[in-house]
Amino acid sequence: MWDKRNDMIVYETEPFNAEPPPTALAGQPLTPIDTFYSRNHGPTPDIDASTWRLHVDGLVDRQLDLSLAELRQLPVQTVVATLECAGNRRAELNAVRPISGQEPWGPATISTAEWTGVRLADVLAAARPRAGAAHIAFAAPDIARNASPPQPYGASIPLSKASSGEVLLAWSMNGRPLPRVHGGPVRVVVPGYIGARSVKWVHRITAQPEPSDNYFQATAYRLLPSDGIRGPGRGIPLGPAILNAAILAPGNGAAVAAGPTSVTGYAFSGEHTVARVDVSPDGGQTWSQATLAQPASPWTWQLWHTTLSLPGGPALITARAWDDTGATQPEQPATVWNPEGYANTAWPRVQVDVRSPVR
Ligand code: MTE
Repeated sequence: MWDKRNDMIVYETEPFNAEPPPTALAGQPLTPIDTFYSRNHGPTPDIDASTWRLHVDGLVDRQLDLSLAELRQLPVQTVVATLECAGNRRAELNAVRPISGQEPWGPATISTAEWTGVRLADVLAAARPRAGAAHIAFAAPDIARNASPPQPYGASIPLSKASSGEVLLAWSMNGRPLPRVHGGPVRVVVPGYIGARSVKWVHRITAQPEPSDNYFQATAYRLLPSDGIRGPGRGIPLGPAILNAAILAPGNGAAVAAGPTSVTGYAFSGEHTVARVDVSPDGGQTWSQATLAQPASPWTWQLWHTTLSLPGGPALITARAWDDTGATQPEQPATVWNPEGYANTAWPRVQVDVRSPVR
């Protein structure tokens, strides 16, 4: 479905919600489109690029109403950026205490692509935000039936982020026209922020004094206190992505041969840089440093790899990343458990069975 690889883990087909098997992400700085996860809250709209228009309004000196051809008049910009859903790794939180009504995402609700479009900053410069504008809201046409009340998808980011050069209105992904399921003809790409802010099928951009009152900004994608009571303005709104890491290979539950075992994964720190990844062959008693690959841009995950020498029998491989502020990951998912299951950044763990060769 949606031209994805056959082994995608599909949680729902309508709306389409799927992630690849973790091993499919291993060792690839750019994620092929057929492997890129997809997260949707409503049915995928079918928008004709020749009639699509972008309205820019709110606290601006000049309202805009642009066709795709007019948008393409602006300087073209390409950014390699990782998108990570705030629900990435929710399954591990589910194991601590069940979270109902949310997809039990594994560690592959994260992917990296080369995005091409125009800078949102250039569109805003043409519209000239007025004094008092502090947030840029995005609106899309897809209706989320599970929102309360049901409504089209929307989100916002601070004007300061929207005016930075990395935020794009993108029409291309990995050199191909942006596929429909990923927001074609045009989506927002907000590098360094949770995926929820990269609004697909965007058709309206509004400069305003406050964050969007859309359900997905005001109510969902927030860290609720343990009472779990949700409502507009409750909980901590998620914006910049939080330091996270996962082990991609070997897969959880894999049987591996005794001797040197290659271990690979990713670490991602949103607007920060990953400074180090430690890996442990024994559940965190001893650690060694993994080798970090050079990231494709400041806005991508950093892939890492190491070789561990594992004794025979069951082994628990663990990792923890550190970023350039000295922050690291919490040890246990229970520490970060929250009622909606967002932002699981606990140490990733993979259980393997180390088998000696049969003589
Ligand atoms: N934009 C719209 N219009 N509708 C959506 O449901 N999902 C958001 C974001 N943008 C969404 C959206 C979420 S939660 C994520 S994680 C990313 O899109 C996923 O982007 P992808 O499907 O291209 O991977």
